[in-house]
Amino acid sequence: MSATDVLQKRFAAALMPNYGLPTVALARGQGLQVWDADGREYLDLFAGIAVSALGHAHPALTGAVTQQVTKLAHTSNLFMHEPGIELAERLLALLGGDGPADARVFFANSGTEANEAAIKLVRRHWEKQGQQETRPVYVATENGFHGRTMGALALTGKASIREPFAPFGIDVRFVPFGDADALRAAAGPDCAAVFVEPCQGEAGVIPPPPGYLRAAREICDASGALLVVDEIQSGIGRTGHWFAHQAEGVTPDVLTLAKGLGGGLPIGACVGFGPYGAVLGRGDHGSTFGANPVSCAAALAVLTTIESDGLLANAAAAGTQLASGIGAMSHPLLAGVRGQGLWLAAILTEPAAVAVEAAARRAGFLVNAVQPDAIRLAPPLVISPGEVRLFLDALPAILENAATARGAS
Ligand SMILES: Cc1ncc(COP(=O)(O)O)c(C=O)c1O
Repeated sequence: MSATDVLQKRFAAALMPNYGLPTVALARGQGLQVWDADGREYLDLFAGIAVSALGHAHPALTGAVTQQVTKLAHTSNLFMHEPGIELAERLLALLGGDGPADARVFFANSGTEANEAAIKLVRRHWEKQGQQETRPVYVATENGFHGRTMGALALTGKASIREPFAPFGIDVRFVPFGDADALRAAAGPDCAAVFVEPCQGEAGVIPPPPGYLRAAREICDASGALLVVDEIQSGIGRTGHWFAHQAEGVTPDVLTLAKGLGGGLPIGACVGFGPYGAVLGRGDHGSTFGANPVSCAAALAVLTTIESDGLLANAAAAGTQLASGIGAMSHPLLAGVRGQGLWLAAILTEPAAVAVEAAARRAGFLVNAVQPDAIRLAPPLVISPGEVRLFLDALPAILENAATARGAS
């Protein structure tokens, strides 16, 4: 029995079956390389669902985390600490133009929690305005993903994930993603807020038509609804910009972040701009672990390294290399590529993504069958041109092996 087999048996016996039974047991990583429990090596083109921005065991991250954990691992929210304050200041600086953004940050532990904070912020805002009754509706997009807790799940537009847990405490109106007219029609005077991803991640890395986010901003301005932009997957350099909304020249009312922010340590953030930064007053919200100093130190290391190592430019350049390499490839299973920066999906002509993911794994690459006909690539932002080339060189054989495996099954 292999070490992976043993771990699978133990996993199945001890853990809830909500993730199914994972195929790979990862043991360690270095840069883009990871090794499983049996010593097999893979090139990680998925970064743990678009999280490990600096790759694995980056010295800036391990140094910052080690230093912080040996000094002070936890304070609770009854005490403040410099890493948390500095991280908020750094985010505001990145979100601002010439100076820090007029905004305030709440730190959570995950993406779904960042969105829960945003939902509560919206509700509290309208309650303070005396309009909670007249603005009961939240607008979100079909197939959008905002998380798994009851509020974030209510906004999640994939019925198979959401419906088994209905009803929810909030009334959500779903509109097709990318359709500004549908958004305009839905986000009327009864709308409290519009929640939108700049590009849908879990739906299969689906960019909207150009100008969609700007249209969403205008629609919210006209109706009075808050614009909540979920950059949990798109933020922190993944698209080659610090934040995808900046590339669109749009300022949200509320922004949510997580994933890449901590580079692998759990942290989420909800940012309220202008007056929305002060909506959640004393006692309105909180988290024991929120702004955990170790996670904040990790996030500071991520932001510093992205800046010092030019990783926004690298995300843009490596993303272009990857996308144009896939785009130039011809194979009966391959229909094309979409996305931006290091956040791409190879589109398949058939629902063969599971077979392609498995063939990639056999060839030593971790990729993600995000949809039946789409393979998501979201590698660490530190990926080198040589590592991109390795994958591009291997992809034709991966597709061929997937096609053969499908034919045989
Ligand atoms: C856009 C978006 N929002 C929210 C979430 C939920 O984040 P988490 O899994 O950290 O709770 C995700 C996770 O994939 C996401 O992609």
